[in-house]
Amino acid sequence: MYSSEITQASNFVKGVDTSFLIILGISFFFLIFLTVLMLVFIYKYNRKRNPKATQIEGSTKLEVLWTVIPFLLTMLMFYFGWAGYKPMLKAPDDAMEVTVYGRMWNFMFEYENGKRTDTLFLPKDKPVKLNLVAMDVLHSLYIPAFRVKQDMVPGKENNFMWFEPQKKGTYELFCAEYCGLQHSYMYSYVKVMEDSSFQSWMVDTTQVVAENIESPTATGRRIMQNIGCFACHTVDGSKLVGPSFKGIWGEEVTVTTGGEKRQVLVDEEYIRRSIFDPNADIVDGFNKGLMLSYEGQLSEEDVENIIEYLKTLH
Ligand code: CUA
Repeated sequence: MYSSEITQASNFVKGVDTSFLIILGISFFFLIFLTVLMLVFIYKYNRKRNPKATQIEGSTKLEVLWTVIPFLLTMLMFYFGWAGYKPMLKAPDDAMEVTVYGRMWNFMFEYENGKRTDTLFLPKDKPVKLNLVAMDVLHSLYIPAFRVKQDMVPGKENNFMWFEPQKKGTYELFCAEYCGLQHSYMYSYVKVMEDSSFQSWMVDTTQVVAENIESPTATGRRIMQNIGCFACHTVDGSKLVGPSFKGIWGEEVTVTTGGEKRQVLVDEEYIRRSIFDPNADIVDGFNKGLMLSYEGQLSEEDVENIIEYLKTLH
């Protein structure tokens, strides 16, 4: 559904990709050149052909050549790197501002009118300035499709990045700084829309997912972190002590109930039963008795938030 990281979707793509390709090209040329040269030398100057080693005096011409050429190449790489980087340092005055809060382990986006979301919504072809606030430890905001990445440093003021989204679509957004156990779950999406749809989205407060600071999805994930679900269950499809949560919502699973195999639909009722009576149904390939009931530890609202989070794990 979302676009991959080779997508080119912002005003900085050209500068970053140009310098990357130039450095890659130069490196690739020297990889081939030096490898071939080495093979030629191995063949030409082996002991059979040259049984007697000869002393070679210095060569001014060669010395100058292999000093000047690398210097020029380095300056070339520097030039394109700088040309791509410099425009990132100053945001246009008319840029729309969004404050990004990073914390262990999610992002929250706050717009100029106070609206808050856990996915970043942006208008197309409008400059955006993201003010980066780290609420606990170091994080880093990385949007590959836009070729932007900036560390989020606790206590650092005027920490920002800016760019102009140029293509409609949904793109990945990651935390790119190891920030603790659940670092790899600290990701979200950027949704770029036409300016007109963005403006009506922005004023539509019915879509405000969090009145205080979190969306139900983020709350659900936080509760699950707190009670330790992720010690045994993953969200990426890999198998630990218990089944992964990835893609289970709305699907059928094979379980054993009272010694009998059957297919059940993963819906609200099934999730509730799995939390409060986890050994009633045992999913195929997993063991009975390893999970204890959370009866009395979670409120109805907690369970609803957890379900909201599980729904997002496709
Ligand atoms: Cu936040 Cu890694």
